[in-house]
Amino acid sequence: MRAPPLRGRLRVPGDKSISHRALIFGALATGTTRIRGLLEADDVINTARAVAALGAPAEKRDDIWEVKGRGPGGLRQPAGPLDFGNSGTGTRLMMGVIAGHPITVLMTGDASLSRRPMRRVLAPLMQMGLEVLEPGKETLPLTLRGTSDLVPIVYALPVPSAQVKSAVLLAGLHAAGETTVIEHEATRDHTERMLRHFGADVRTERKNGATHITVKGDAELAGRDILVPGDPSSAAFLAAAALIVPGSDVTIEGVLINPTRTGLYTTFREMGGDVAFLNEREEGGEPIADIRVRASNLKGVRVPAERAPSMIDEYPVLAAVSAFAQGSTRMDGLAELKVKESDRLQATAAGLVANAVKARVDGDSLTVEGGGRIKGGGLVATHLDHRIAMAFLTAGLASEQRIAVDDASMIATSFPEFCSIMESLGARFEEPVT
Ligand code: S3P
Repeated sequence: MRAPPLRGRLRVPGDKSISHRALIFGALATGTTRIRGLLEADDVINTARAVAALGAPAEKRDDIWEVKGRGPGGLRQPAGPLDFGNSGTGTRLMMGVIAGHPITVLMTGDASLSRRPMRRVLAPLMQMGLEVLEPGKETLPLTLRGTSDLVPIVYALPVPSAQVKSAVLLAGLHAAGETTVIEHEATRDHTERMLRHFGADVRTERKNGATHITVKGDAELAGRDILVPGDPSSAAFLAAAALIVPGSDVTIEGVLINPTRTGLYTTFREMGGDVAFLNEREEGGEPIADIRVRASNLKGVRVPAERAPSMIDEYPVLAAVSAFAQGSTRMDGLAELKVKESDRLQATAAGLVANAVKARVDGDSLTVEGGGRIKGGGLVATHLDHRIAMAFLTAGLASEQRIAVDDASMIATSFPEFCSIMESLGARFEEPVT
């Protein structure tokens, strides 16, 4: 229901992708890695627990997380299973790490994670020498046996996935020789950037329209200081809220604007959104900016398939914003949305329809008919998906009637401060009366 104008300057918590990587690379480095601004959300805490269980304790001292690295190949057999909760990133990146160690690990996760496809990561890792002790099984729980004799490979990504790319590069750090990942569509490049920061030998070359990323094996990584910028995927909800709640003017400080992550902001501008990147600078090897967003009259646009990897986590909130635009918005190339924490393509369309918005899925595309307003009044099924919950709570800030979500608890996996930050800007949420 209509919130008052949202106004203020604020920060969002650290980037989730960079936080996972900082902990994992810290565990593989020799010496101590100090991380400032780590995202303290369930997904990342599960990765911190996993590296600790493998012998690389990660602990917070004052404001800084310290990881005591064991050097590449130096992780140990854990005493029990590793539980990754809801996190596909933690799971898949750690599969690449486990592959390069002579250890046997049972990996588990929640109901959502246990439905997600792991074959995309296991296939290349098995080519390198990883064993899966449940032959043919492709979802968690899985028991993996790694080896200190990984074979380097050249692997063309069959799906545009930074998680798969990263898992293969992480395994490649432990292989004897050079491992190359070929990607036809650019995906987030935090692994490449951060590996270089830790001293690994990583080359990126353009060949025949594709990017070849090569890592040298038997790598030496040295513990480093890392500063984690604000998460653009969390900032997305605040930016969306500022666009759709009349009279809003919000500045989100210190947000990552790596071009592999900013597709949503490009799209908002094409829709007529007043979105400015101010004070652009670099911090810790990544570009950041303060993002100022003011309420705007929006129009429907066509979002090209090529843009999908740079905003893959942002489609639910874009779809919600599209309903407030005039005209239809068509988003193409969304096959990967079907295998996220939920089938986000269906969950997003169903949530819109439940709130009297015309939305339809056709193949890998989603079309939303914007009418400048959302009637609301519906209950959204979130399917254990934090981004579905946040997208519809955001839409509810500007809908005519309230929008309810069936479960807000999963928000803690990526952005535990979501409600309190929105409330600091003037929004109000109600707990259901039980
Ligand atoms: C991530 C990559 C993306 C994204 C996820 C985080 C990462 O997944 O959806 O939230 O940190 O590498 P895919 O690699 O499966 O596209």
